[in-house]
Amino acid sequence: MRVTEGGVSLSVPGESTDGVEEAVFYNPRQELNRDLTVAALRAYREREPRAETYLDAMTASGIRGLRAAADGWRVTCCDTDGEAVALARENLAEDDGTRVIEGDANAVMHAEAPVDVIDLDPYGTPMPFADAAFASARDLVCVTATDTAPLCGAHLQSGIRSYSAVPRNTEYHAEMGVRILLSALARSAARFDVGVAPIVTYARSHYVRTLLELTHKPTAADAALEELGHIVHCEDCLYRETSEGLIADAPDTCPNCGGQRLLVAGPVWLGPTRDRGFLEAVRGEVPDSFGTASKLDELLSELAGELDEPTHYDQHKLCKSWGLPANAMDDFLGDLRAAGFSASPAHYGGTAFKTDADVAEIRAATAPNLG
Ligand SMILES: C[S@@+](CC[C@H](N)C(=O)[O-])C[C@H]1O[C@@H](n2cnc3c(N)ncnc32)[C@H](O)[C@@H]1O
Ligand SMILES: [Zn+2]
Repeated sequence: MRVTEGGVSLSVPGESTDGVEEAVFYNPRQELNRDLTVAALRAYREREPRAETYLDAMTASGIRGLRAAADGWRVTCCDTDGEAVALARENLAEDDGTRVIEGDANAVMHAEAPVDVIDLDPYGTPMPFADAAFASARDLVCVTATDTAPLCGAHLQSGIRSYSAVPRNTEYHAEMGVRILLSALARSAARFDVGVAPIVTYARSHYVRTLLELTHKPTAADAALEELGHIVHCEDCLYRETSEGLIADAPDTCPNCGGQRLLVAGPVWLGPTRDRGFLEAVRGEVPDSFGTASKLDELLSELAGELDEPTHYDQHKLCKSWGLPANAMDDFLGDLRAAGFSASPAHYGGTAFKTDADVAEIRAATAPNLG
């Protein structure tokens, strides 16, 4: 059957079953991810006009490569699956600028190096492909990770194996996933003397997406590693603190409640997860004709407004732990600001927020207006 997305039309197998997992070759639920990628590629080319080659390393139907080619990128698509390759060849007219290769992404990345932009969109963890991407990409590595349970610590051993870090299952699980993924990617890049700077990162219920700008310098790799550290989290009162460095520096008891149920996660990425100026540029590249234009605009503005704090709170969980009813988020955040703290909504959910206040300070600032 034919589908149209972002102004390009292509063949995909099967029925257009919105949200159904067996739509292997073309997942309509990832349209926002692709729309954002195309807008980001446009914005990135303004920033780095030399960039011209794009490797869609796990192409399936060829949709990402096709959309990038329609924007003038010189595109290489790759997939191990013969049926996917045949379909991508049907969808992309191969010419001097566009090729579809049947092969393993790791081998193709090395063979095609250097490539300006590499996009990793595998099933599950991207880590088996990270080294080849950082060894081969010049400007940008775009990564989707769909293994949210290992990333957030719900499947602890699997997360430790994939990310060489300890994720912990907290109420800010999606952000734990973001920061575990960024940490592992920064460490992979550092092996090649490459520093990463996340210019767009967001989490949705079933995946994490990040776009990393690369700097090919040992000092940039060192600087990226300096963004790593640990999160100490109290399961009793939801207090958390962070420590910088690859060695964890955790107290024995919770500084807030004296409890001993402390979780230590890391190394995680503690630095900024996006570049606000770039987000604005991306926003300017989203035409109304994109299928997810309004959702994307909302997401980009939420990301731009979010504080840089490395963890967020869930207002309902906090209020529940205090035995108090929650109030409207705007009022709650207003109380924090009135008490002199910074506070912002966070894109992780309707009751997610960030603040530079700690749990005791949040309670003191907001409790008088709860219940
Ligand atoms: C999630 S799908 C890609 C979806 C596609 N990028 C899109 O936006 O619609 C993952 C694809 O990776 C392919 N794949 C799995 N292992 C691979 C490998 N080692 N090298 C290249 N492709 C691989 C699969 O055949 C599958 O087509
Ligand atoms: Zn505590």
